[in-house]
Amino acid sequence: MVDLDTLFSLCKRRGFVYPSSEIYGGFGGFWDYGPLGVEMKRNIRDAWWRETVQLREDVVGLDAAIIMNPKTWEASGHVKEFVDRLVECNDCKQRFREDELESMSCPACGGALSQARLFNTMFKTFVGPVEEDAAAAYLRPETAQGIFVDFKNVLTTSRKKIPFGIAQIGKAFRNEITPGRFIFRSREFEAMELEFFVRPGTDEEWWRYWLDQRVKWHVKYGVSPENIRVYEVPATDRAHYSKATGDIQFKYPFGWGELEGVADRTDYDLTRHGEVSGEDLTYFDEESGQRFIPYVIEPAVGVERTFLAYLINAYHEEPDKEGTRVVLKLHPWIAPYKVAVLPLSRKEPLVQKAREVSALLRPHFMTTYDDSQSIGRRYRRQDEIGTPYCVTVDFQSLDDQQVTIRDRDRMTQERVPIDALVSTVQQRLAASLG
Ligand code: GAP
Repeated sequence: MVDLDTLFSLCKRRGFVYPSSEIYGGFGGFWDYGPLGVEMKRNIRDAWWRETVQLREDVVGLDAAIIMNPKTWEASGHVKEFVDRLVECNDCKQRFREDELESMSCPACGGALSQARLFNTMFKTFVGPVEEDAAAAYLRPETAQGIFVDFKNVLTTSRKKIPFGIAQIGKAFRNEITPGRFIFRSREFEAMELEFFVRPGTDEEWWRYWLDQRVKWHVKYGVSPENIRVYEVPATDRAHYSKATGDIQFKYPFGWGELEGVADRTDYDLTRHGEVSGEDLTYFDEESGQRFIPYVIEPAVGVERTFLAYLINAYHEEPDKEGTRVVLKLHPWIAPYKVAVLPLSRKEPLVQKAREVSALLRPHFMTTYDDSQSIGRRYRRQDEIGTPYCVTVDFQSLDDQQVTIRDRDRMTQERVPIDALVSTVQQRLAASLG
C-alpha cells in the first residue's frame, strides 16, 4: 500500500493537492485543490448527488448558509458538547487530544502534560461591524443543522411524505487540535450529508439499510471490498445526539480509520430546535393519523476523506519494460480526466487533426491534450493521474479517419473510427458503472 509521503508528493507534483498558502509557509490543516484535484472532487460530489438525490424519488437537495443564527448551535448541543479534551506539554507547549495519547507524557519531547481541559472545536467569527460577544457566530461544523432548521420549509414546499430525506453538500469547519495525516483530518472540509426522516420505531431498519447502501456506493466507485469494513461505535464514543453509529472504515496506510459515519440521530435535533425556536416541527402522518417528531438516519461523509481513500486504493506500481509504471486505477467516473488526446508526433497536419479530435470530445468529457515528449512517457503521465482512455492520433489517422484508443487498466489498444469515438467512450463509461 502506498505511504502518505509518496501520495502527497504525487498529489503536489501533478496538481491534485497543494498546501494552502504555501508561499507563506502553509497553514496547518488547510489545503488547496489544484487543476486535477478540483475535477476529482467535483466527480466525487456528482457521484454522491446522482445516487443520493437524482436517482431517488424520496430525497431532495438543499444548500443552506454556512453561518447560521448562533442559537442553532445552542439548541443542537454543539456549544456544550462539540468539545475535545485538550492537554498541553508543560515544556514544549505542544497541544494534543487526550484520547489520542498512548501515555501521559508528551509524544514530542517526553515532558509532563497539563490537566485536560475542554476545547470547543467550532470556529468563532463576528457578524456585522462589531467584534463583541453579542455579534459572535460560528462557522458550521456540520451541514446537518441547516437541514434540521429548514425541515419545515422543505416539507411544505416539496410535499414529501416520510420516509424521505434532505441532502446537502457544503463546506464545514472544525478547529481540530491535531489536524494531519495529509488531508485525512483538516480544519476546512466539505461534507456530503443526508438526513433521512423516518417513523419512530423504523429507525433501526433504516439505519441498517443506509449502512448497506453507503458501503455499496464506495465499492461501486472503486474501493476494494477488502479495504472497507463496518465498525459499530460503542456508546461511550458516540456523538451526543446518536443512539447508534456505524463507522464505515477504510484501510489507510496508518491502519483502519473512519471514512464515513452512519448515525441514528433519533428525534434529538428536531425536538431541540422545536423547543428552542418555539416552532412546531412535528410531522402529521396521514397514514396513521398521528403527529410526531420524525427520527433521523444520517449518512455523513467528507469529500476529501473520500478523495484520500480512493487515491490510496487506486495507487499501483507495476513493473513494465521501462521499469515501474505508476498507475492510479481510479474509477473512470472519479478520474479527473476521462480522455487524453495524444498526437504521435508534433508534425502538421497531425497536430491539427489531434486538435480536431480533442475538440470533438471536449463537449462530452473532461479531455486533456498532450503532445510533448515520447508517446511512452505521455502514456505514463496519463497513467499516473488515472486517465482511463488515451486516444492516439497517428499518420494513418489522416487517411483512414481512425484513431487508437488505449485502455489504462487492460493496456489494450483498439482502432476506432473518429466519428464513433464519442459513442465508444460513452459506452465504456456506462459499462464501468456496472
Ligand atoms: N453530521 C455528522 C458528522 O458531522 P462526523 O463523523 O463528525 O459526523 C462526518 O463527520 C464525516 O466527515 C467523517 O466520516 C469524515 O468523512 C468527514 N470529516 C469529519 N471531520 C473531518 C475533518 N476534520 N477533516 C476531513 N474530513 C472530516
